[in-house]
Amino acid sequence: MNTVVELENVSVYYGNVQALFNISLKITEKDFLGIIGPNGSGKSTLLKLIAGLVKPSSGIVRVLGKPPFHTHGKIGYVPQRFNLNREFPFSVIEAVLTGRLTKHSLFLHRYTEVDFSAVEDIMYKLEIHNLKDRQIGKLSGGQMQRALIARALVMEPEILLLDEPTASLDAGSKSHIYSILKDLNQYMTIIMVSHDMGVISSYVKSLACLNVTMFYHGAPELTDTLLGQVYGCPVELIAHGVPHRILPQHREEDYD
Ligand SMILES: Nc1ncnc2c1ncn2[C@@H]1O[C@H](COP(=O)(O)OP(=O)(O)OP(=O)(O)O)[C@@H](O)[C@H]1O
Ligand SMILES: [Mg+2]
Repeated sequence: MNTVVELENVSVYYGNVQALFNISLKITEKDFLGIIGPNGSGKSTLLKLIAGLVKPSSGIVRVLGKPPFHTHGKIGYVPQRFNLNREFPFSVIEAVLTGRLTKHSLFLHRYTEVDFSAVEDIMYKLEIHNLKDRQIGKLSGGQMQRALIARALVMEPEILLLDEPTASLDAGSKSHIYSILKDLNQYMTIIMVSHDMGVISSYVKSLACLNVTMFYHGAPELTDTLLGQVYGCPVELIAHGVPHRILPQHREEDYD
């Protein structure tokens, strides 16, 4: 399997805040990597490094064999938050269409029929087609999250980065999104931050546990001891017992 993302001894500082320390990581083609870790542990920073939005303070990042800056149009990125002025004068369909700009030249691109039909298809798939003429800044949290996923998918990226993509979604929409991701994973590498361990255990192919350094990267199976180390507290104290759900056996009684 080809390595599509490679980090070598990467550290990131924001001023004197150390967000990541000495991370080395290889991600292979068509992996579905789940990233977990407590708040402030550097998960979003790791995705931003791969997306080329944050530069390493030291170490090397290579995406598809190149510095991330040179991978324009091949990386789809769904941010954790999207701070948008509620009056921002774009409709939902116009916002999703901007995903096509990164596929072509950023400048002087006129949308073609192919662009429009790709956008319409993806909006139907994510069940936001009925919202296409609404103002993007006025969508609800879950509607906005689906619009951001649509925008990343119309790029037809080789690597899809998702930062807690289903945090605002209701249960039905979550499983819908995950079934879409599972399909996409047949030809796309997916790297996803999520606190949803039930989902992590059933969908991902590999798992990374991050808390400034990389505590674990491997099969999606974990022990209490490791989780205690990553989260810095006994597993019982971790938010509502959630990490229990990725113990090796996935026993029924682990689900509360
Ligand atoms: N632009 C920034 N300027 C300064 N500090 C930052 C910046 N972005 C992140 N940080 C800090 O870097 C650390 C890692 O942040 P990051 O957003 O990567 O964490 P996270 O694991 O995604 O957290 P969460 O689960 O809350 O989303 C935090 O201490 C955060 O305060
Ligand atoms: Mg984050």
